Amino acid sequence: MPYAKIIGSGGYLPPRIVSNDELAAELAARQIETSDTWITERTGIRQRHIAAPGVKTSSLAINAARAALDHAAVDAADIDLIIVATSTPDFIFPSTACLVQAGLGIRGGAAFDIQAVCSGFVYALATADAFIRVGRAATALVIGAEVFSGILDWSDRGTCVLFGDGAGAVVLRAADTPGITGVELNADGGQAKILCTAGGISQGKIVGDPFLRMDGQAVFKLAVTVLAQSARDVCAQAGMTPADVDWMIPHQANVRILNLLGRKLGIPAEKIVVTLDRHANTSAASVPLAFDVAFRDGRIRAGDQVLMQGVGGGFTWGSVLVRI
Ligand code: UT7
Repeated sequence: MPYAKIIGSGGYLPPRIVSNDELAAELAARQIETSDTWITERTGIRQRHIAAPGVKTSSLAINAARAALDHAAVDAADIDLIIVATSTPDFIFPSTACLVQAGLGIRGGAAFDIQAVCSGFVYALATADAFIRVGRAATALVIGAEVFSGILDWSDRGTCVLFGDGAGAVVLRAADTPGITGVELNADGGQAKILCTAGGISQGKIVGDPFLRMDGQAVFKLAVTVLAQSARDVCAQAGMTPADVDWMIPHQANVRILNLLGRKLGIPAEKIVVTLDRHANTSAASVPLAFDVAFRDGRIRAGDQVLMQGVGGGFTWGSVLVRI
C-alpha cells in the first residue's frame, strides 16, 4: 500500500498587513477599546494580513497552490485530486476546489471542499491520505484557505482582533516510503455553539447570524484537553510518544494554548512552529502556512517526524503525523 508523502508546500498572504496598533486605532475610532499590549499578552498575535475588499478565498488558494507546485516541481496536469479546506468559500457552490482547479488550468480528477473550520486542513490531509493509500489518487493538492475577515464582527473586540486571511498548500504524492503514518480525527457536535457562524442564505436573504461568535474561554479549555489526547493517540499509532516528534505544528490560535500543549506533552518550545505572531489565526490555512514557513527556512528536513494538529468549530479536532 503506498504512503502519501509531502513533496512540496506553498503559502500566500494578502499584501496588506495590519499591526495591533493600527487595528486598535481603527477600533478606537468606533469607540471600541483594545491595545497592542492586550492582544500580544493574551494571544501572542502582533499583526495579521487582511485581504482587499472583493478578494476571494479561491484567489488566495490558487496563489498558494502555484507556490506548492513550483516547490514540489510538479506539473499542474499531474494533479488528480484537489481538496480545499475552507469555511469561507467564494460561493455556496461550486466548491472553492473546483474554482482552484479551473484557475490552475487542470482538467479531470476529483475536486471538493472540506468544511471542518480550523481543523479543516488536518481533515483534508487525512482524506487525501486515504485516497492515496488505496490507490484512488497519485498526486494531490491539499489546501487550507480563508478570508475570515469577511465573517468577523468588527465591533466585537473579543473575536475581531484574533483572525487573519491567507492560504497554505501541500502537494502529496504516492510513495513507497512514509509519508503520513498516523491520523486521528474527532468531532463533538454537541459543542457547536461555543464557536460558530450560525447564519445561512435562504429565499435571497441572510437567515441567522452571519458573524463568527466564540466563547473564548470554553474553546481555550477544550482545545488544550482534546489536542493533548489527540497527540498521544496519533503518536501511539506510529509506536511513538509526542516527545519523540521533531516538529509540532498546532493550529495557530493562541500562543498560550501552544505553550500549555508543549508542557503537557513534554515537547520543548523550540520544537513548536509558531507563526501566529505574524499571521494571526487563519483558521484552515494556519497549519499549512506554518508548515510552509518551517519547511522552506530549513527547520523541517527530510526524515523529520512532524505532528500537525487542528482544532476549532464544530467542535472538531484532529492530528496527522507525517514523516518528511
Ligand atoms: O480557531 C479556533 C480556536 N480558537 C481558539 O482556540 C481561541 C481560544 N480562546 C482564546 O484564545 C482566548 O480565550 C481569547 C484570546 C479569545 C480571550 O482571552 P481570555 O484571556 O480568555 O480573555 P477573556 O475572554 O476572559 O476576557 C478577559 C477580559 C474581559 O474583560 P473583563 O470582563 O475582565 O473586564 C474582556 O472583555 O478582556 C476583555 N477583552 C479585551 N480587552 C481588550 C476581550 N477582548 C479584548 C480585546 N482588547 N481585544
